[in-house]
Amino acid sequence: MGAGGPAEARAAGQAAPRVDVGAAPDAPAGQGEQTARLYALLHAGNQGDLAFYRDVCRGAATALELGCGAGRILAPLAADGVEVTGLDNDPARLAFARRALQGPRGGAGATLVVGDMRDFALGRRFDRVLIPFNGLFALGSVEAMGACLRAARRHLAGDGILAFDVYRVDEQDYLDEEPWESDFEPVTTLMWRGQAVSVDERNAGDGTPGHVHVSYRVNLPEGPVVQHVVHRFAPWSVIEDLVRAAGFGGVEARGGFDGAPLDETSSQVVVLATVEDPDGDRARRAAGRLAAGAACQPARGLGVRRRLLGDAAEGASDGGLVAAKAGAARAG
Ligand SMILES: C[S@@+](CC[C@H](N)C(=O)[O-])C[C@H]1O[C@@H](n2cnc3c(N)ncnc32)[C@H](O)[C@@H]1O
Repeated sequence: MGAGGPAEARAAGQAAPRVDVGAAPDAPAGQGEQTARLYALLHAGNQGDLAFYRDVCRGAATALELGCGAGRILAPLAADGVEVTGLDNDPARLAFARRALQGPRGGAGATLVVGDMRDFALGRRFDRVLIPFNGLFALGSVEAMGACLRAARRHLAGDGILAFDVYRVDEQDYLDEEPWESDFEPVTTLMWRGQAVSVDERNAGDGTPGHVHVSYRVNLPEGPVVQHVVHRFAPWSVIEDLVRAAGFGGVEARGGFDGAPLDETSSQVVVLATVEDPDGDRARRAAGRLAAGAACQPARGLGVRRRLLGDAAEGASDGGLVAAKAGAARAG
């Protein structure tokens, strides 16, 4: 954070952090609360991703996260002193984000917006635009990914940085045109109200290349609850074309949050893109700086059909979900 930024303002004892939640409700109730809580537990991110996004935002005054969910990334960034804006189309998840942002460490000011990341207009630009943890794959089509990247470009300051990560998709997986379905298989264990509960995962392809329907069966003591998610995968070659077509000049892709080169053994594609950077020097410098500072474990090398949850879900606990997320800023 540069001189005179929000962190300095807080240190100087100025006004308490502001959390402007727009249309986000107070707290989800009943089934909505359980669904959002389970979703947040199941989507705990990949090892090293939080440290990566915090690094990307070091020195930035403002950041916009598209598909911010329950605030897993947003709250630690706010605690770092970045003025954050989170946009998501799920009000129940935003309600968790609101709680995370109002946690004990507070933040430099935060805005939560219920919106569609394929098409939105916030009327301002940001130093960083982030789309963490496969957010692009939640959008349903390659066209939708392109629309989201164009909206991201419109909201990025001229000298800003777009950062996102997606799983690396084998061309072979992408071209799979036969419908297929796996059995439910155990994938992780979560702590739910003080009890360990197992989670099973089933994946199915509907015959459309890149479409995967994922079902998580969470074996709660009162009976199993199944959550469904549809992913639209695309290989990096397709996404890179979308990024460039959206108006980004410098595009730097790495194979992990530790800055490893991208190759056929990579599990992830971690991307930094800039606007006024035709030779890609700024994006490359930013990536190099991150690689030097990173202390990440290598990502698990799983096939795309077995790695949809992210590798941080194991052992995630609903005990103090929000506090744990805010605490990640201290631990990370
Ligand atoms: C995989 S989660 C990532 C959550 C968060 N960024 C993180 O890293 O933990 C994807 C998020 O995108 C949101 N989402 C999906 N489609 C969206 C859309 N069209 N507009 C806005 N948000 C969307 C979902 O509600 C979900 O919270």
